[in-house]
Amino acid sequence: MLSSLGVGAGTLVVDGTVGFGGHAEAILERTAPDGRLVGLDRDEVALEAARQRLVPFGDRVELVHASFRNLTDVLAERGSPPLDAVLLDLGVSSPQLDEPERGFRFGQSGESAEAVPLDMRMDASRGATAAELLAHASEPELVRWFQEYGELPGARRLARHIVETRETRPLRTAGDLLAVIEESRVGRGRKHNPATLVFQALRIATNDELGALSEGLAAARDALRPGGRLVVLSYHSLEDRMVKQFFRDEERGCDCPPRQPVCTCGRRPTLSRITRRPVRPSEEEIARNRRARSARLRVAERLAEGEADRAHATPARPR
Ligand SMILES: C[S@@+](CC[C@H](N)C(=O)[O-])C[C@H]1O[C@@H](n2cnc3c(N)ncnc32)[C@H](O)[C@@H]1O
Repeated sequence: MLSSLGVGAGTLVVDGTVGFGGHAEAILERTAPDGRLVGLDRDEVALEAARQRLVPFGDRVELVHASFRNLTDVLAERGSPPLDAVLLDLGVSSPQLDEPERGFRFGQSGESAEAVPLDMRMDASRGATAAELLAHASEPELVRWFQEYGELPGARRLARHIVETRETRPLRTAGDLLAVIEESRVGRGRKHNPATLVFQALRIATNDELGALSEGLAAARDALRPGGRLVVLSYHSLEDRMVKQFFRDEERGCDCPPRQPVCTCGRRPTLSRITRRPVRPSEEEIARNRRARSARLRVAERLAEGEADRAHATPARPR
């Protein structure tokens, strides 16, 4: 991952998902003695842990409580020059998953699901909790989340049952939701536990993870200098698909109909893909960290204006 960023001494890097600071620490070591890192995270608990971990790097690092979807504003407020690299390591971190009161999981051996609140917010200081979403979402919205974000067989049945149940019984804890999933008998006999799919869907909806990713990718593209790198690690097929599509569209630029002889849209290519296929973790990495097994890494490089113009050529570009 580190070599994909292409950074060295003196470079300016944004870690858009600084988490508990593991990647940031490695980047700061690699960019010594004068490289700088701006680290963002929505989660104040994670930021505080990163702050302590990164103390040895002094003023080479600045940590900001913000979503990477607001990267443009964060950089503008600091009068930042164009960046050498941006890293997005998506999803939730292991320590977040390990804190039952955050409500990211539905209870593990020996832990009562009744005691796990349906919160799921990465930024606990704002926005609706998963319980509030379940209390107020319309039935079609619930169906869409379970279908799109969870790929849950029986999404309609579950949404219906939630809407009926919440009239008389509020769904406040993981235990309440597990009971409704069990009663609706969805996803039985499938490879994935239906509860895992439902909790995943609800987490993605609670944090608007795909909306943030879409805006964050565009903001990262705009913040890079020509030759700068955008590196994205995703753990969910929906995220990886979105990154793949974004990189492909930005490399193509022109989005005129394929048969149109001359480009009229005027869109210029902005990125060049370094990885055509997603890079997967090695056996050794998976042995070290089981949660890495679903990771997919994609890398693209920002094009200079001139390069973009050459790649743009007048005819509409083949897909
Ligand atoms: C997989 S962890 C990152 C771990 C980190 N690379 C490390 O080495 O510790 C993902 C982190 O991204 C944060 N996050 C997720 N979506 C975010 C967003 N839109 N903006 C900022 N941070 C976000 C989560 O709060 C979490 O701390």
